[in-house]
Amino acid sequence: MVVRNLGNTVTRDVAIAGGGVIGLAAAWKLGLGGRSVVVCDPDPGRGAAWVAAGMLAPANEAFFGEELLAHLLLAGAARWPRFAAELEDSIGSPIGFEPSGTVVVACDPSDRAALDRLLEFRQSVGAESARLNASECRRRIPALSPAISGGAEVPGDHQVDNRLLVSGLLRACRDAGVEFIAERVVAVELDRGGSATGLRTEAGTTIAAGAVLCAMGWRTGGLGGVPPAVWPEVRPVKGHILRLRGPEPIIPRTIRGLVRGRACYLVPRRDRSLVVGATVEEMGDDVRVQAGAVHTLLDDARALVPGIDELELSECSVGLRPGTPDNGPYVGWTEVPRLAVAAGHYRNGILLAPITAEALGALLDDRPVPGELAPFGASPRSAADRHVGTGR
Ligand code: GLY
Repeated sequence: MVVRNLGNTVTRDVAIAGGGVIGLAAAWKLGLGGRSVVVCDPDPGRGAAWVAAGMLAPANEAFFGEELLAHLLLAGAARWPRFAAELEDSIGSPIGFEPSGTVVVACDPSDRAALDRLLEFRQSVGAESARLNASECRRRIPALSPAISGGAEVPGDHQVDNRLLVSGLLRACRDAGVEFIAERVVAVELDRGGSATGLRTEAGTTIAAGAVLCAMGWRTGGLGGVPPAVWPEVRPVKGHILRLRGPEPIIPRTIRGLVRGRACYLVPRRDRSLVVGATVEEMGDDVRVQAGAVHTLLDDARALVPGIDELELSECSVGLRPGTPDNGPYVGWTEVPRLAVAAGHYRNGILLAPITAEALGALLDDRPVPGELAPFGASPRSAADRHVGTGR
């Protein structure tokens, strides 16, 4: 259902600015819980999560100095099997959730030393892994290059088909009665007392709501109507990603690799496509596909799996991750009454969508959010107080 002009006569329980994976997961769960929900986005489901690889990787996304974030990622991963089953039940079709683990490999001996240090840190935060020598890696993934110098089995890092996921969430939202307005939100509306009362779109539509959620990814700071200092700091972090395709699946499950110090991943899909990613570039909101980035990704991927040379290169795309100063998200009420934020999930939006949706339900019910998410509140004060990372 697409509603274009709601006017001011009806007040929804919740108005959500942003129909990315976070906004959609929240809308679905809130709608299922009996709330009236409206989502405003000119192109819902087509943000960073559409471009992504869909890895659910609490271990491989845990980095030195980010212990609190690592615990959040593990808590996020624990929600996934149930979330996937509920969504598949609701829409009656699969979303490509594959709880098949990940093999992580090192290209040369210095990559191996770096990987060993990372695995030790990851084990210290509770992310399981088991070291493998090169031939054990190749027994699991025969297409791996004979030149790799070893790796590890990471049993808790899985994947979901990101495009089936967001399409499924859109359907599930509509089935749960969520309304969509295909317009860009430009401002939060406030009452005289300074509490949020709704959203205003570029086309002049005003949506009145009891609570407002901003889930606009890297665009979060761009909403008017409130002082800019209300918004936590979120910036675009560019990522190139490729899709390849062949007559047969070239690898049976996800591989992550370190290639001369650079990270690379290869994620096979049931439809025989292979997702290869991703660059991490501080280029502002630049969405150009650049030849050098495509070249680097292909070069690194073929160092791990030389057979990709035979595949068709079917897509080169760019996504803008919502990055934050400490790589952790912001989920909670802002200093404006009735205005919440859920943004800045950086490399982990898909992984953290279920726990974020759960937290937003709790906020609206005046219940505490899951403990692992509690340090990642949305007010500038909580952002200054948290020490979850040193950047990467
Ligand atoms: N989650 C992987 C990436 O952002 O590239």
